[in-house]
Amino acid sequence: MVRLLRLIESDGPFNPDVNDTVHKVYEQAREDMGRFVGAASDEIALTRNVSDGINIVATGFDWEPGDEVIITDQEHPSGALPWINLSRRYGAKIRVLPLTHNQDETVASLEGLINPKTKLVFLSHVSTRTGYRLPAKRLCEVSHANGVPIMLDGAHAVGQIPVDVKDLGCDFYAGCGHKWVLAPQGSGFLYVDREWIDKLKLTWLGWGMTEEYDLPSLSFEAVSEARRFEYATMNWAHFGGLVKSIGVAEELGIENTEARISELATNLKQRLSDIPGIEVESPMDPEISTGLVALSTAGLNHEAPGQWLWDEHRILVAHNPEQQSMRLAVAHFLLEEELDRFVQCMSELAEAR
Ligand SMILES: Cc1ncc(COP(=O)(O)O)c(C=O)c1O
Repeated sequence: MVRLLRLIESDGPFNPDVNDTVHKVYEQAREDMGRFVGAASDEIALTRNVSDGINIVATGFDWEPGDEVIITDQEHPSGALPWINLSRRYGAKIRVLPLTHNQDETVASLEGLINPKTKLVFLSHVSTRTGYRLPAKRLCEVSHANGVPIMLDGAHAVGQIPVDVKDLGCDFYAGCGHKWVLAPQGSGFLYVDREWIDKLKLTWLGWGMTEEYDLPSLSFEAVSEARRFEYATMNWAHFGGLVKSIGVAEELGIENTEARISELATNLKQRLSDIPGIEVESPMDPEISTGLVALSTAGLNHEAPGQWLWDEHRILVAHNPEQQSMRLAVAHFLLEEELDRFVQCMSELAEAR
């Protein structure tokens, strides 16, 4: 990535040799990302982030008052705000599916909410709050059995667990390299099933996404691939980083990564649940959980344990002092000793109650 950035900035982006190199790397990223999630490269639009992909799909439908979208009660702000905006602008209705840690219940909840007014189902593949794995394939089946398209937010799935969009059967899948694939920030993607490339309306347009364009007649034709949802200048160098990161992820093997994360997280959750004052909020069953580990620290009687961990021990967790909760990302590169240190710190806090 740094080499590519240096090349662009020192030799100039419009130098034909640089342009050629950048173009090849960018197209390589599309192909690699497609292969990594089981899609054809022409079904992949490269984006800056997951939110880009969600917004492209949210605005790609013509919403009418009363149209409904189903989301879960654990969406990230980026997985909720675009729908809230649609409800404000067009009077669309949002139905919220409450998540429990029971996959049968999740499927039954979707069956209960879906109705003739449902225009789209939007669900996280892995809950950003607890790491709960939604039964994505079954949810796609329910959606399609009711004639409703479905989009999955794979922010916390891609690079952490195997993702095969064709096997899942979703219509749209937004993801990124900059979480579990460990790629540079600003390397996202959107999968659009071939059936939808033509049907999903365009919202952002600019140079690079047309097959034909003629200003005098004010006409254009978008390219027939998913890259019609991309346009204009990007930070191309990021995608060089994405190519390398996918290479490393594939070399490690996603099944090995998943198994390593599962081993580390399962062990950690068991140890943490033995500490008085700490409640593990993520599912304990490895089959339905991931490396995101959510804890309630209300019983610790400490104002801001997450801040204390960073200030005193340089351990970084996502934390919310008001809700007395924290969330760890137990990634495959963590060492057992590092998790031991975390458990030790939490035991120390528990003893000081
Ligand atoms: C489930 C989920 N969706 C979307 C996002 C936003 O990702 P990005 O910054 O790539 O748009 C996040 C970020 O953590 C997330 O957890």
